[in-house]
Amino acid sequence: MSHHAKLDGHVALVTGAGSGIGREIACAMAREGAKVGICDIDMDGAAETVETIKQEGAGDAAAFEMNVIDEAQVNEATDKMAETFGRLDSLVSNAGIQIVHPIEDFPLDQFRKVVDIHLTGSFLTTKAAVRHMYEQGSGSLIYMGSVHSHEASPLKSAYVAAKHGILGLARVMAKEGAKHGVRSNVICPGFVKTPLVEKQIPEQAKDLGISEEEVVNRIMLGNTVDQEFTTVKDVADVAIFLAGFDSNALTGQSILVSHGWVMK
Ligand SMILES: NC(=O)c1ccc[n+]([C@@H]2O[C@H](COP(=O)([O-])OP(=O)(O)OC[C@H]3O[C@@H](n4cnc5c(N)ncnc54)[C@H](O)[C@@H]3O)[C@@H](O)[C@H]2O)c1
Repeated sequence: MSHHAKLDGHVALVTGAGSGIGREIACAMAREGAKVGICDIDMDGAAETVETIKQEGAGDAAAFEMNVIDEAQVNEATDKMAETFGRLDSLVSNAGIQIVHPIEDFPLDQFRKVVDIHLTGSFLTTKAAVRHMYEQGSGSLIYMGSVHSHEASPLKSAYVAAKHGILGLARVMAKEGAKHGVRSNVICPGFVKTPLVEKQIPEQAKDLGISEEEVVNRIMLGNTVDQEFTTVKDVADVAIFLAGFDSNALTGQSILVSHGWVMK
């Protein structure tokens, strides 16, 4: 383990850590010395993340099956994880999906599914995590918002509503958590090339009647300062900063990491 490690002895639970942004956050935290609970419904993806962390040889990791909308499973996996690693210092509530439709064609069950996984999932994982954090008198709640926590895009009614909702939940948790030493913040990335986004490019091209190139250059990157995708590393760097921040001064905030797409 590097003596520069920023998260020595830190224990983090990351949801959706079997792919994309969650995987990179988990690996990056482990590289900083953290012990990480890799939580996902995709146990193959979770096992791959654990394997990568073990191979890299810093920190530690174990996989836990967790569907973030199943309260019993969330509680069980969280308790098991805290028991395995002895404490719980940060929750990275990251699991998510995307479904796009114009509102007049948006099936109710699909709308509910998106809102449930992002928002109800954040609620349930928070509820399970704070029981451990309040007992310790410390903790960092880190929610995966999006530029879409602050901005809207057509076809994304469910996602934008859920990501705005996460800001509200995080701000309430900043107030409720304060007296227990628990901080609460939201990371708001711009477009990051993960399976979730790769899938949207052809879908949006079809729904909006434009080329895939236009979806990338105009819809996804058109408002950035430099037409660049945000990377999983960019997002992981912010997560490490929030997990390791030393006082309760930084709470109730959302941090935009989007190549200047949104500035606030
Ligand atoms: N990729 C982007 O451009 C981008 C931008 C802003 C925010 N985000 C957010 O980042 C988060 C991660 O997205 P990603 O791009 O890495 O996607 P991804 O599809 O690569 O990974 C998402 C992971 O979440 C898991 N998951 C899905 N439903 C789950 C459930 N019910 N319970 C537990 N795990 C579940 C999946 O199995 C997968 O491993 C999401 O919240 C997403 O909204 C992504």
